Amino acid sequence: MATTRCLSRRLARYERPGHLVFTYPSSGEADAQQRVRADGRKRASLACGTLLATLVGRRSTRALDGQRTRKASDESRRQRDPSYVLGRSENEERSLQERAKFFNPSTRRLFEDAGITTGMKVLDIGCGPGDVSFLAAELVGPTGRVVGVDMNPAIVATARARAQAAGTTQVSFIAGDIRHVGLEDSFDAVMGRFVLMYSAYPAASLRAALRAVRADGIAAFYEANMGAGVVSHPVSSMHQQLGRWLSETFARGGVEMAMGTKLYPVFLAAGLESPRLTTDAVIGGGREWLERYVSVFGASHLRSYLPQTLEYGIATEDEIGIETFDERYLEELLRQESVIQNFQCVGAWARKRRAA
Ligand SMILES: C[S@@+](CC[C@H](N)C(=O)[O-])C[C@H]1O[C@@H](n2cnc3c(N)ncnc32)[C@H](O)[C@@H]1O
Repeated sequence: MATTRCLSRRLARYERPGHLVFTYPSSGEADAQQRVRADGRKRASLACGTLLATLVGRRSTRALDGQRTRKASDESRRQRDPSYVLGRSENEERSLQERAKFFNPSTRRLFEDAGITTGMKVLDIGCGPGDVSFLAAELVGPTGRVVGVDMNPAIVATARARAQAAGTTQVSFIAGDIRHVGLEDSFDAVMGRFVLMYSAYPAASLRAALRAVRADGIAAFYEANMGAGVVSHPVSSMHQQLGRWLSETFARGGVEMAMGTKLYPVFLAAGLESPRLTTDAVIGGGREWLERYVSVFGASHLRSYLPQTLEYGIATEDEIGIETFDERYLEELLRQESVIQNFQCVGAWARKRRAA
């Protein structure tokens, strides 16, 4: 009887006759949800707050085996990094540089708050075409040094070419995965923007990068909370739809949807002190700003993740109508005089614990 009472409190629901849906309490990073087919006799017991279901019968045993296999394949999925849903095209390289112009003011404020200053030697992980590295170079000045690392050699070549074209001599770039690349261990700071969200184990990636940072050095990261969605007022159906296509595609690709908020526990797990957090989002209105926003975050950005959106069945080419997308998007925003907001972002900075 006690078991029945506990079950009625703890079990989520009967989905349909013969199916129990067990919702377990959250544990670690993942909520474990187990679906158990139980056509035979069912007996469950609850001990010390842990739900233990014992199922009797051949079909139940088979179901549990299937469950174990699913669990194993979930594990192996988690061990892989998320798909890089933005792809590695030239269009994406250009789009990243355009998007950077919107995110740079907040990133600069974060770095200034974190104490990135003249003469420092800093490491930018997941540097892409170099925008964060160039921003850091302005803060550390000609007496400082910036090293950008990215696992995509093509984008590193672009970053190098940009540094050369701009005559920025205190910046250099290395092609490699931040978890394995060999670096000196004398950096004053490590930084990154929109990079930990692409790691299966962000704390492990950050810890690997911190090996190159001196004790008491700084970590400063800027990541998105894509799960929080986008905002518009008056509501723009196209802005909201675009936000859903983007976040659903990223979620299906395995990208961390709450990386901004998770920076706090990830910093602690990586051996940093409790981070200071800030939050903001790209937001604006008015013809000039909206034209600029649509030209960067509309079809140009969409083209980067479109193959995945289509592959995952999130939208069809007809629904998206890429060729006329920007025109229709801008027309709606201007007609409604909407103010629109992109995904919420979080900036975090902290010092490396001396013992880490
Ligand atoms: C969305 S881009 C951001 C680029 C840049 N930080 C910016 O804000 O403009 C993410 C970049 O991180 C890189 N990246 C992801 N995981 C990485 C890893 N483990 N090591 C090195 N680079 C990584 C990707 O190749 C990609 O260029």
